[in-house]
Amino acid sequence: MKDSFRLAVAGVGNNVAALLQGIAFYRALRLSDPSAALPGVRVETVGGLSVMNVHFVAALDVAQAKVGRDLAEAVMATPNNFPELVPALPPTGVVVESGMMNGDPDEIAAVSERLVSTGTEVLLYSLPTGRQRLAESYARAALDAGAAFVNCTPEKVARDDDLLKCFSDENLPLIGDDLASHLGATVVHRALLDLVTQRGLSLEGSYQVNLGGNEDFRNLRSHGSTKRESKLNAMRDSGIDVERVEVVPSGGHIGYIQDRKFCHINIESRGWGGTPAIIDLTLKVQDSSNAAGVIIDLVRIAAAGKRRGLGGALVASFPQLKSPPGGHRYTEDDLRVAYAELGP
Ligand code: NAD
Ligand code: NA
Repeated sequence: MKDSFRLAVAGVGNNVAALLQGIAFYRALRLSDPSAALPGVRVETVGGLSVMNVHFVAALDVAQAKVGRDLAEAVMATPNNFPELVPALPPTGVVVESGMMNGDPDEIAAVSERLVSTGTEVLLYSLPTGRQRLAESYARAALDAGAAFVNCTPEKVARDDDLLKCFSDENLPLIGDDLASHLGATVVHRALLDLVTQRGLSLEGSYQVNLGGNEDFRNLRSHGSTKRESKLNAMRDSGIDVERVEVVPSGGHIGYIQDRKFCHINIESRGWGGTPAIIDLTLKVQDSSNAAGVIIDLVRIAAAGKRRGLGGALVASFPQLKSPPGGHRYTEDDLRVAYAELGP
């Protein structure tokens, strides 16, 4: 695949199902109409790489239903429940292999070896939330293999100063932490809280409760604390009084809504003379499309950055992350410069 970059994935869950199928969907669309607009794609190219320029070269998981199967089959295996976007996804030629169970040094070495032998340029980390040791171990494996690393989860990887320095020293991008969904609960909630504050009303209290029917939601019931903190980080950085805001990452697992997410937002404020102004809103989205629409940008930023020898944190990725190292401190000019550095 000419011009494509070589991507390995750790965790073949709904995010990767959405990514793989979405890329196939856009390829089919462009095949039937070379000038078709790509719905849901934020930027056509990043550092010269298009949405179609992704070459999957390796996949790691630990689930019996996925290991040993072609990636195209594995993404459709239960408990994944992202809907089918393209009928009969063609085989990728990549067989899902066993990933790390606990992150021991010998496991790190084995994964690293696999990344080297497949010529991986970027490793996408997309495991369930709450596996700090595994997140660090997969990052170490990428580092040892000379690959860039993208962390989809709220685990501290890019915010670990030692790891960040190691990636910087090797001129390898380290992109994280926690992707900010394309049109997710946090960005909508934050925009409305900003609006209330900007208009000069006083915030009395606000909450966000999320409901979903996928494995991410089931897991967040017991591992929700890092997610909650990361969502609040994203709001704190824009100057919102988070003491008055409550976030419930998983209010419950509702099986029949599958990979959709229903987010209920309530904002109670006081206006002139102390009279109430209240917003109640429901946001309904396809949860893992919300991830894939951002992952496609993060992996392209990582690949383009690596090819240009840019190491460590890359500012171009910051708007699409909930918890980048050092928080959301950048100007529009910084972003323009950062994108220019990735190449035409
Ligand atoms: P998922 O539960 O569908 O997939 C996780 C996959 O990781 C599963 O296939 C599981 O078998 C695999 N896995 C578990 N342990 C492993 C190990 N030791 N090695 C390799 N693979 C292992 O989750 P998802 O929906 O794909 O989301 C992935 C991550 O992205 C989650 O942490 C989630 O919180 C985060 N995230 C998602 C969104 C979103 O979907 N909108 C937004 C922000 C962050
Ligand atoms: Na997901």
